[in-house]
Amino acid sequence: MSTVVLIGAQWGDEGKGKVTDFLAEKADVVVRYQGGTNAGHTLNVADQVFKLHLIPSGILYPGKTCVIGNGVVIDPAALVKEMAGLQEQNIDLAQLRISDRAHLVMPYHKLQDELDEKQRGEGKIGTTLRGIGPAYMDKVNRVGMRVADLLDELELREKLSAILEVRNMLLAKVYGEQPVSLERIMGELRQYADTLRPYITDTSVLLEALILKNKKVLFEGAQGTMLDLDHGTYPYVTSSSPTAGGACSGTGIGPLRIKHVVGVAKSYTTRVGDGPFPTEITGATADRIRKIGREYGTTTGRARRIGWLDAVVLRHACRINGLSLLALTLLDVLAGLETIKICTGYRLRGELISHVPASLKALEFCEPVYEELPGWQEDLSSAVRFEDFPETAKAYIRRIVELLGVPVALVSVGPERLQTKVLHEIF
Ligand code: GDP
Ligand code: IMO
Ligand code: MG
Repeated sequence: MSTVVLIGAQWGDEGKGKVTDFLAEKADVVVRYQGGTNAGHTLNVADQVFKLHLIPSGILYPGKTCVIGNGVVIDPAALVKEMAGLQEQNIDLAQLRISDRAHLVMPYHKLQDELDEKQRGEGKIGTTLRGIGPAYMDKVNRVGMRVADLLDELELREKLSAILEVRNMLLAKVYGEQPVSLERIMGELRQYADTLRPYITDTSVLLEALILKNKKVLFEGAQGTMLDLDHGTYPYVTSSSPTAGGACSGTGIGPLRIKHVVGVAKSYTTRVGDGPFPTEITGATADRIRKIGREYGTTTGRARRIGWLDAVVLRHACRINGLSLLALTLLDVLAGLETIKICTGYRLRGELISHVPASLKALEFCEPVYEELPGWQEDLSSAVRFEDFPETAKAYIRRIVELLGVPVALVSVGPERLQTKVLHEIF
């Protein structure tokens, strides 16, 4: 079996898109299993930049099957737009497949996301306002609309009118908002259904058949472990399961089908949106890293918060996901720093702890315990071989491996495919 689940080990934006695109050369199938247009995966290929939100990052290679699994919440308007954008860039979509069980993000979900954030005021989550939370809420509440519903107009109308009856009451009576029009949504959905129909199928059946044929399947996580609904910094999280377990429920394959789990981690840490971030730094070093690493959100353009590498967070990710390998990204960004810090533990009310506490209050009180390593001045982005890296950069990687007990398979030193050093083959 050649199946790999690739997950974000921090708070998202670890470079999952770049690593997925790199591994996709050898994979036959690339699958998204959760999240929605809150994800922003940037791929740099031969002077072109691709920003993907819903479509798996394997799409740039012709002939690779790209699957949007049942665990993804699909905004059909955004998907149709993303598909058209790729076609304009001469990308072939013939091998795209969309799960008939995936839920839809409806216009009223996006509106609800905005209203909820406004309501939270100071305590806002800092969501991407893409309707993700409300869409998953409806799914869990068993009032969601699914891709399969798009294929039957009569049933679609019946379901939607029942949903809107309640939704419009809520909008008017609680929020003082205008009602959402059934006819307008029906008109839009009809168009999207026509475009999407040829790609819709039972993707669990498809994936099982491909896995049994020993095809190389790569599951591409969106967001990251610390944004996981169960295992992240709740409630400052997203509403899905970006961790490895999510790949099973989000695609309809059994856990024994998974061979490797690869965690993608930045060589430092970033977070976009609100919520606790123990190793966060501000000032000149943070500004320098933000500038060199171009740390601005792919989806919302917001400046990302910057911090040192947090081995407590990464050990949490190793455990929750059962990581077998690591891909370390953006190592080039750290060049030019005199020293680099790694957080090896937290001090909480005088006591040293080595795990992420569940209580947000406790996490806010956690003070990082740092180890300081010498930096390097050399530019890594043009290094041809890993062996050519300066000794201090190698020592930094060695220390991370020691702290986590998981080998590093890939080191990324730039956004391009060639700026990737392979230490262990993944496929
Ligand atoms: P994702 O959401 O995990 O796919 O990550 P994003 O695409 O949102 O953010 C990662 C950013 O870093 C993108 O702009 C990538 O092009 C860029 N990137 C990825 N790997 C590297 C690297 O090794 N070095 C540098 N300098 N940039 C990288
Ligand atoms: P990729 O796949 C980084 C963050 C938002 C917010 C929280 C909840 O590119 O790594 P949501 O809109 O999901 O309800 O927002 O999660 N967030 C991300 N942060 N990368 C992402 O995706 C994210 N997707 C959501 O900023 O804090
Ligand atoms: Mg991103």
